[in-house]
Amino acid sequence: MNLSANTVLITGGASGIGLAMAGQFLQAGSKVIICDLDETALQDARQQHPALETLVCDVGQEADRVSLFNKIKKEFPEVNVLVNNAGIQRRLKLTEYAEEWHQTHQELAINLEAPIHLSALFIPLLRNQYGATIINISSIVAFVPAAWIPVYCATKAAIHSFTMSMRHQLAKARITVVEIVPPGVQTDLGGPGLHDFGVPLPEFTQAVMQGLQNGEVEIGYGTAEKVRASSRDDIDRLFRQLNP
Ligand SMILES: NC(=O)c1ccc[n+]([C@@H]2O[C@H](COP(=O)([O-])OP(=O)(O)OC[C@H]3O[C@@H](n4cnc5c(N)ncnc54)[C@H](OP(=O)(O)O)[C@@H]3O)[C@@H](O)[C@H]2O)c1
Repeated sequence: MNLSANTVLITGGASGIGLAMAGQFLQAGSKVIICDLDETALQDARQQHPALETLVCDVGQEADRVSLFNKIKKEFPEVNVLVNNAGIQRRLKLTEYAEEWHQTHQELAINLEAPIHLSALFIPLLRNQYGATIINISSIVAFVPAAWIPVYCATKAAIHSFTMSMRHQLAKARITVVEIVPPGVQTDLGGPGLHDFGVPLPEFTQAVMQGLQNGEVEIGYGTAEKVRASSRDDIDRLFRQLNP
């Protein structure tokens, strides 16, 4: 993929991996629009990167996704790259399940419904564009679940599966479909301090951008690179190690 001369929409782009990718696409000469929940976070992002276009959108809400699509179609009809990046991660004890279903559903809606729905909305627009690309973010835990975040892992396994099917279906429409498989990366995912063990964000982002430039369609890094290619026996062993 050529990193310059694109118009890129990144969901959840006001922080973490999304913002880091936004910065790299801008630097390479692409136009970048980010959307996120919080106008203050978007303002901070604009301070870091004044060229960013920003929109408030809760991708967990169907109506917000439709209105995001309509705004982009009207204001940036040349959009050719969709990055389904927004995500949340929640710890959940299934033996002490005490929350309302809508709280559980929110994780499904943001991590899984949103990428499926946004992809479906944008495909008719993207199929007319040069260099059309949809980028989904799964996770190392799509392959080896971390049992303390069970719904999160399930959404990421589903995104891995959906991305493979979408890549197959869209090949004839000349839309490239990419899956990024991060290991633990130092961001505020799940809350500040919970991902301190991960790889530094700039190092990870650099590797991802290099993978995109090389035309890779499944981009892992570090431990995720090993795990995504593991055998079933290895995965069972890794699961036992991760969940003693
Ligand atoms: N960091 C890791 O170790 C890791 C590993 C594997 C995969 N990933 C995936 O990478 C992606 C980016 O995560 P990250 O690590 O960069 O985390 P992050 O720093 O928390 O970034 C996620 C962004 O998405 C936004 N967001 C959350 N809910 C949203 C919604 N309903 N609508 C719009 N935006 C929303 C967040 O806003 P708020 O801050 O306001 O909530 C935040 O700006 C996620 O899909 C995540 O699952 C991360």
